[in-house]
Amino acid sequence: MFRTALIAATVAGGIGAPPAFAQDGDAEAGEALFNRHCRACHQIGEDARNSTGPVLTGVVGEEIASNPDFRYSPAFTEKKEEGFVWTEEHLGEYLANPRAYIPRNRMVFVGLRSDEDVANMVAYLNTFETETETETESESETETKTE
Ligand code: HEC
Repeated sequence: MFRTALIAATVAGGIGAPPAFAQDGDAEAGEALFNRHCRACHQIGEDARNSTGPVLTGVVGEEIASNPDFRYSPAFTEKKEEGFVWTEEHLGEYLANPRAYIPRNRMVFVGLRSDEDVANMVAYLNTFETETETETESESETETKTE
């Protein structure tokens, strides 16, 4: 519901473009793209761990740079201070051209080639949306206990 509110707010805010990637992506095609382009740096799912890039479980609708155990670039932490959230729209623009969308960020990826790829990727990322909360909590709990 949190996410729905965000999207509603974005739409109501009247940002010219229609929410092209929201509904019509194909998550299975997105998974194939993820394996090809993203898995080298990112893990996703219940047992995902940070590697070169942060865990992406639940990233859709989440604040940027929200993984407490990952060292983000200043470009990312500045965005976080502005309250930037990964709405589907923001994710789509970022994945189409990461370096143009968030200058000086550390993700070395040229960008997905087509709107269709972007839509499919966002649809795939969206299939993991509910798990983050619990996962981050239990992760940080274990960390605090092992001194
Ligand atoms: C070469 C490694 C690499 C590849 C390939 C890569 N990423 Fe990243 N990604 C990163 C790094 C590093 C960051 C953190 C950037 C920073 O701190 O500036 C990041 C950040 C992100 C974030 C923001 C996460 C957050 O916590 O705010 C998303 C979403 C993301 N990547 C998605 C993807 C997707 C989807 C793909 C495949 C299309 C991909 N990345 C490919 C390394 C990579």
